[in-house]
Amino acid sequence: MSVPSVAGHRASFHAIEWHHHSLHLLDQRLLPHQQQMLHYRSAAEVADAIRDMVVRGAPAIGIAAAYGYALDALAGRDLHQAFRVLAESRPTAVNLFWALERMAALSHAGTEALVAEARRIHEEDIIANLAMGQFGASVLGEKAVIYTHCNTGALATGGHGTALGIIRSGYADGKVQEVFAGETRPWLQGARLTAWELLQDKIPVSLVCDGAAAQLFRTGKVDWVIVGADRITANGDVANKIGTYSLAVLAKHHGVKVMVAAPTSTFDPTLDSGAAIPIEQRPAEEVTSLFGQPIAPAGCPAINPSFDVTPAELIDVIATEKGLIMNPDHDSVALLLAR
Ligand code: MRU
Repeated sequence: MSVPSVAGHRASFHAIEWHHHSLHLLDQRLLPHQQQMLHYRSAAEVADAIRDMVVRGAPAIGIAAAYGYALDALAGRDLHQAFRVLAESRPTAVNLFWALERMAALSHAGTEALVAEARRIHEEDIIANLAMGQFGASVLGEKAVIYTHCNTGALATGGHGTALGIIRSGYADGKVQEVFAGETRPWLQGARLTAWELLQDKIPVSLVCDGAAAQLFRTGKVDWVIVGADRITANGDVANKIGTYSLAVLAKHHGVKVMVAAPTSTFDPTLDSGAAIPIEQRPAEEVTSLFGQPIAPAGCPAINPSFDVTPAELIDVIATEKGLIMNPDHDSVALLLAR
């Protein structure tokens, strides 16, 4: 199979494919200029692909890790070691650990069962995104103008997308007028990936520098900020791409609504609040250089936290495949997860 075929999922590309017992990943480091699939045959190789951002985005990382685990099962390797190497690839997106736990629960069930479970994790994510897209679009109102951050589309998930899935579903329903995509320094997921996906779907998009958000909000040009999540804690706090917290603070100040879109596999009810979420620190070179070219004085120190935490009180809605959480807090999150 290439990618699970789910009714309503119409991607013009596939970021994750499973063919003849090998995993194929679209190299997201090369987009939008080159589309190249890389092939993987072990958990260790897949862990490197996750760490190096060949594949990125919380749900996509979980799906790739599940296939990576299945690859080591097929090769008869030690599955404890497969779990360990994949779990060490990136720390913040809880989907990685959620997917690995699902695979490990079947570690004695045989290789066919493990491959089938990885495929199920992939397919369920697409189904969840399509449901989330409908729930999220239902609250947008008419002709909404949306600001989004990072990339949360078919590249970041099994297909369709979380925040971008809501934008896709909303646009198909005539509810989205226009999208502003923040470029998302330093890795430029917004400029390189989100703009690419939206242009392919012919959804009106304008790329903006991250620093332009306040001016857009102040001049009344934006109705909704819609973003994804890497981990949502029991009280509704949300870890997402660095810059999300700034957007939520700005949105509150200007009366712009904030929606977070995430499947329930992104929730971590074992953590009470966002303060406990491990935040990945990526190499300083991602800040001090661009496409291999230095953009800062030689030797200039830099810090590069890859995610931040937005407190629940700055979020109006969390959209999931099970429904919407309005004004998230401990009780409303628990109620949704119990459905
Ligand atoms: O560092 P990345 O590109 O993996 O970060 C991705 C994000 O922060 C996304 O917003 C998040 O994973 C949700 S993707 C559906």
